[in-house]
Amino acid sequence: MNKKQITALVASAMAFGGAAQAADVEVTHWWTSGGEAAAVKVFADSFNALGGGDRWIDGAIAGSGGVARPIIASRITGGDPMGATQLNHGRQAEDFIEAGLMLELTDVAQRENWKGFVRPSGLYDSCDYDGKIFCVPVNIHSWQWMWISLPAFQKAGVPAPKDWHEFVAAAPALRNAGIVPLALGNQSWQYGGMFDVLLVGLGGIDTWKRINIDRDADFARGSKMREVWQAFGDARELSVGSNVSEWNEATNLVITHKAGAQIMGDWAQGEFSVAGYTAGNEYDCLPGLGINEVLSTGGDAFYFPATGDADLVRAQKKMASMMVSKDVQVGFNLAKGSLPIRGDVDLSAANLCMKKGLKILDNLDNVIPSGDQLLTQDTLGQMGDLIAEFWEDTSITPAEAQERWADILASAE
Ligand code: GAL
Repeated sequence: MNKKQITALVASAMAFGGAAQAADVEVTHWWTSGGEAAAVKVFADSFNALGGGDRWIDGAIAGSGGVARPIIASRITGGDPMGATQLNHGRQAEDFIEAGLMLELTDVAQRENWKGFVRPSGLYDSCDYDGKIFCVPVNIHSWQWMWISLPAFQKAGVPAPKDWHEFVAAAPALRNAGIVPLALGNQSWQYGGMFDVLLVGLGGIDTWKRINIDRDADFARGSKMREVWQAFGDARELSVGSNVSEWNEATNLVITHKAGAQIMGDWAQGEFSVAGYTAGNEYDCLPGLGINEVLSTGGDAFYFPATGDADLVRAQKKMASMMVSKDVQVGFNLAKGSLPIRGDVDLSAANLCMKKGLKILDNLDNVIPSGDQLLTQDTLGQMGDLIAEFWEDTSITPAEAQERWADILASAE
């Protein structure tokens, strides 16, 4: 055997995995609350249990997605990529994909027929870029929930509300009992999220469409949106005394019955699970504020930066496959409070709130299309600033804010 033949033999042995090395995969995400950490543990334990010596190296970033996303982005574009990262479904990774910075997962997706089982199909499509797959959708999260402390209402001597209007009517009794009616963290993404929930909860899908699709500024100045702004003004008063900043601190006020309710995405449910609570006993959930039971289907997806390291690529694809596997989907989503991205899994362990969510999603008329691609970032930014200004400056009346909000919509591109 000459030297050239030996070199060829070594190269082919390496290609067939003879020299494969175990890989450490650093995974960045912003899941740091109790429920979120419990859900991450399902992923990490499942990955480590696959054997082969590959390891999940946890790279949790404290704070909300708004804090984590720029850090994640600068590492990817700055030449210091992690092995895998959480982002939200949608267009957050588009620039990285275009720049060739993301690993393609098409081979895994095709081999395992992701297209056949991922639901709603839009979640699969949001990982598809020019016919190639670049991410793994891991859950369906929806924002449109109100979480209620049943003992808080008992203490106040009033029945637990079944919708937003009953909640507002019961609020004075909560105040008399020393309970803050509405918990909310002092961060603008939380005010904005609540405003959007009030909009679709009180106004229904029709209102949502008139604003986000038709951009109908006259409608925005009219009576339906007046009701939404009025309710947002009520929420501002009802949350006086909440005095926390993180969303999970606000959830904790509900868990400890110091607050009556919180409007927050279904990730809040992970906190109730960690507290050992059962839906229907210590807490209840009202999708669509108990008025218009509609849900959005956002959520989280994992992306895998391209590094050209063959051992890492093998481990990254193994991780992608693990994340969509049936048992992991069930375990992860039960801990997270979200819904699985596949319908072919055993959900007998689903709690009352998950069952409500699944039932709503059965009818696609109840599903709000993803809003973040309809209005531009600029318009959304202006609206978010106004909402935060209104929330923090109680001298601004709902009617004034509504007018300014409609002006922003009128000039939206
Ligand atoms: C969202 C994310 C959820 C949840 C929430 C609060 O962006 O999709 O999984 O973690 O932030 O941290």
